[in-house]
Amino acid sequence: MQDELERIATLRKELEDANKQYYGLDQPRITDTEYDALMRELLDLEAKHPNWVTPDSPTQRVGGEVAKEYTKVRHLEPLLSLDNAFDPSDLREFDRRVRQIAPLVDYVVELKIDGLTVALTYEDGLMVRGATRGDGVVGEDITANVRTVGSIPLRLNKAVPKFSVRGEGYMPKASFARLNQEREEEGQSTFANPRNAAAGSLRQLNSRITAERKLDYFAYQVLSAKELGLHNQTEVLTYLQKQGFVVNPEYKVFSDIEEVIIYCEAMASERHHFLYDIDGLVIKVNEFDLQQELGFTAKSPRWAISYKFPAEQVETVVEDIVIRVGRTGVLTPTAVLKAVSVAGSTVSRATLHNLDNIREKDIRIGDHVLLHKAGDVIPEVVRVLLEKRIGEEKLFEMPDLCPECGSPVSREEGEAAYRCQSIICPAQQREGIIHFVSRDAMAIDGLGPAVVQQLLDVGLINDAADLYSLTFDDLTPVERMGKKSAENLLKAIQDSKERGLAPLIFALGIRHTGEKAGKILAQTFGSMEELQEANLEDLQAIPDVGPAMAESLVQFFRLESTERFLVKLCEAGVNMTAEKSSKPQIFAGKSIVVTGSLERWERREIETLIEEYGGKAASSVSKKTAFVVAGEKAGSKLAKAQGLGVPILTEEEFEQLIKS
Ligand code: IVH
Repeated sequence: MQDELERIATLRKELEDANKQYYGLDQPRITDTEYDALMRELLDLEAKHPNWVTPDSPTQRVGGEVAKEYTKVRHLEPLLSLDNAFDPSDLREFDRRVRQIAPLVDYVVELKIDGLTVALTYEDGLMVRGATRGDGVVGEDITANVRTVGSIPLRLNKAVPKFSVRGEGYMPKASFARLNQEREEEGQSTFANPRNAAAGSLRQLNSRITAERKLDYFAYQVLSAKELGLHNQTEVLTYLQKQGFVVNPEYKVFSDIEEVIIYCEAMASERHHFLYDIDGLVIKVNEFDLQQELGFTAKSPRWAISYKFPAEQVETVVEDIVIRVGRTGVLTPTAVLKAVSVAGSTVSRATLHNLDNIREKDIRIGDHVLLHKAGDVIPEVVRVLLEKRIGEEKLFEMPDLCPECGSPVSREEGEAAYRCQSIICPAQQREGIIHFVSRDAMAIDGLGPAVVQQLLDVGLINDAADLYSLTFDDLTPVERMGKKSAENLLKAIQDSKERGLAPLIFALGIRHTGEKAGKILAQTFGSMEELQEANLEDLQAIPDVGPAMAESLVQFFRLESTERFLVKLCEAGVNMTAEKSSKPQIFAGKSIVVTGSLERWERREIETLIEEYGGKAASSVSKKTAFVVAGEKAGSKLAKAQGLGVPILTEEEFEQLIKS
């Protein structure tokens, strides 16, 4: 017992350290796989000793709490907005007003992160609440979601009785690009920019989805700072860092507004080099005494202003609209543009997402359009310059046949996407192989799209399983493939055989089945064979496997082509097993409801236990509920269970079950 308690403490420390290195923009010292292994060990130990789970344990970051709606929370102090400056003269005017009251002043200039305000409350050092801005006075409680953000400390380094922090929750550009790519491949609608994606993710009712979205947080404000002995903004930023928050490192202090202006303009031209979106800078009077003297207008402080970058939009011409066929057969219309430079790079193509978007914006071939980069990354047509139309522009129509293989194309109910119906479409095969070898899948480095295309063209491979029979002599004739790269590639292919079940499931490219799903399925079934045999019911009983995923898994494993492909992989020696949950799966396929207040476990703890033992922790009672665990003061759910004749267990009885 003592050993386990110590091990838990060590694991927590290692995981939180890794977290800090990762989010503190340092070099992480452990790999994702090592992190996952430590996390699994800790989850197992905590499941064994539910009473030892603490709210600041790294396991609390994986999400899982599902809310029906958000409760409202009143902010301790209202969240104000800032006045905007759009050019140097607005900044000089701001400076003039400040100097009427404070002739000598220092300004702190911070990046204005383009995300959403998240207010955090700590009590006795522990994070107890996260809330959105709402209308500035009342926001929404998003605590469960906030917990999943790795850069938000669950416990302060040094406890203070009451502590409120404000900062910006945001989605890094890379996470945004990946999320949208996944959504496009799945035929789902895409997010317009990282801010929308971050807002959508933080307002998820299911915190596990938030956890997958890779959000981040920069802290910039502390309430009641003076009571903590802090006298100015720079001290606040240093203090926040000491307490374990991530503070944006780009802030600078100036005493002359002309220097502020030079810095703002320099940042405007560097804005695209950051890993996150910024939409301007915030200029704050540093000293709190001066801030207080300057005071507030009805809506905003007089001691701060935001300098907004002009939105970067350029004009270009849509020369053509072509179709790209993706891995899942989705046909994505893509604009071929007259090359222009926008937001730091030359752009000659822009995805038009789908036909609905083309029609909504009325984009035609030959149109002059305004182009920007959504989230600073994805080139996107903002609107058509209708005044430049000459009447020769051509309306775009979706083809009836796949441009890559000639099979019929169709659109499913409720989907924006048109899909090629063939399963042997060469474009899908190519994209499928590119996905199979990608970093989060089988991680075969050195096999880019061009090499895949060449190997397909010369018939050396037909599918991803053929990669495992490639030889050195096969590879050397490939263009731009030196001896060393061929050797490295062969080694990477060999190594990938031991990637394990989770990445392999993801690599198969099954619809609705992403990286996280791969992990969950691998953990639940332990081997490809078991997964293949699972029926719809087995799959739906797994928390986080929705009906769409369950359905597409069953369909996928029913296909003869899948069976043939898996046999080939197996014969090539690809490992198709995973370590299984160490717990007996006594609740497999069972839906269990917990109600009332419990003594032995926190609500989340018992739900984790139910999941660890293979069950699903559900929130409402129905005829399908296997049993209800009822604590003190159980209300309507207990009554409903009694009415339906669903068995009711006490906490003790539940404990007996999992111990037996
Ligand atoms: S200070 C009273 N600092 O910009 C001062 N805001 O209108 C409150 N923002 O939505 C804001 N980065 O969430 C401040 N470094 C930064 C910021 C920042 C982004 C956002 C903030 C709010 C808006 C200000």
